[in-house]
Amino acid sequence: MSVSPKPRPKVRTLTLLKKKRSGEKITMLTAYDALWSSMLDEAGVDVVLVGDSLGNVILGHRDTIPVTLDDMVHHCAAARRGVEHALLAADMPFVTARLSPDEALRNAARLVQRGGAEAVKIEGGREVVPAIEHIVESGIPVIGHLGLIPQSIHQLGGYRVQGKDDRTAEGLRTDAQALVDAGVFMIVLEMIPPHLAEEITKAVPVPTIGIGAGPHCDGQVLVSHDLVGLSRQPPPSFVKQYATLRLDAQKAVRRWLADVEKGAFPGKV
Ligand code: KIV
Repeated sequence: MSVSPKPRPKVRTLTLLKKKRSGEKITMLTAYDALWSSMLDEAGVDVVLVGDSLGNVILGHRDTIPVTLDDMVHHCAAARRGVEHALLAADMPFVTARLSPDEALRNAARLVQRGGAEAVKIEGGREVVPAIEHIVESGIPVIGHLGLIPQSIHQLGGYRVQGKDDRTAEGLRTDAQALVDAGVFMIVLEMIPPHLAEEITKAVPVPTIGIGAGPHCDGQVLVSHDLVGLSRQPPPSFVKQYATLRLDAQKAVRRWLADVEKGAFPGKV
C-alpha cells in the first residue's frame, strides 16, 4: 500500500517564528523567475527571496545598485507563479525605502500588489526605522537586513566583514533592537563575525537568517545560483557549492554543438 506524502502546509511569518522557538533551522534561497522558484518550492525551502542580487546574477550588472522597482516587480511576479508553499519575499531595491515613509509604503505595496510578495526586505538599521514602522502598520510584513548591506557598497568600501570592532559591533546590536522595535518579523545578518551573529540571535525575539555570518543564526540564506554552481562570477568564500550546473550545462551544449557539426543530431528520420 503506498502512503501519500503528508501535505506541506503553507509557510507564513508565524511558521518561521515557531521554528525559531523550537530550534528548527529556517531555509531561505533566492529565485528570480517561475522556473527557479518552483524548483526551490518543490525542494522544500521555507522562504523564496526575490533578492536584488537579481542585478548581479541575472541582469549582468556589477552590483545591486542599478536594480529598479520595476525590475523587482517584474521578476517577483514571475517567481510568484512558481511558488505554492514557501513564503515569497522581495527586496526593496536601492533607495526605494529611504526617500520618505510614504514613498517606501507605496513601493512596498507595489511589490505586494503587483509582484505577489508576502513580505519585503529592507537593508539598513536605525535610519530605515520610520519606513519600516509605516509599512508594518499598513499590514505588510518586513524583513530587516544588517551587516554587509550591498546597496551601500560604495559607502562601506567593499564586500568585507562588518562589525569587527567594538564600536561597529555595538552599532549592529543597537540596529537589531531598533528593527525589532519597528516591527520586523525576521532579520538577515550578512557577513558579520559568527560570535556577534550568535549574540544578536539570542538577544532578539525574531528569527535571524545568516549569510556569511556563521552557524548560530536561526536560519541560512544563499544566492541559489551560487549554491548550485551556476553563477557567472566566482561565489563569495562562505558559499558551499553543492553542484556544478554551469560546467555541466556547458558540457551538454558542447556535446550538442559537436553532434550538430558532425551530423549526428537530429539523426536520421
Ligand atoms: O539580494 C539578495 O539576494 C539578498 C540575499 C543574498 C540575502 O539580499
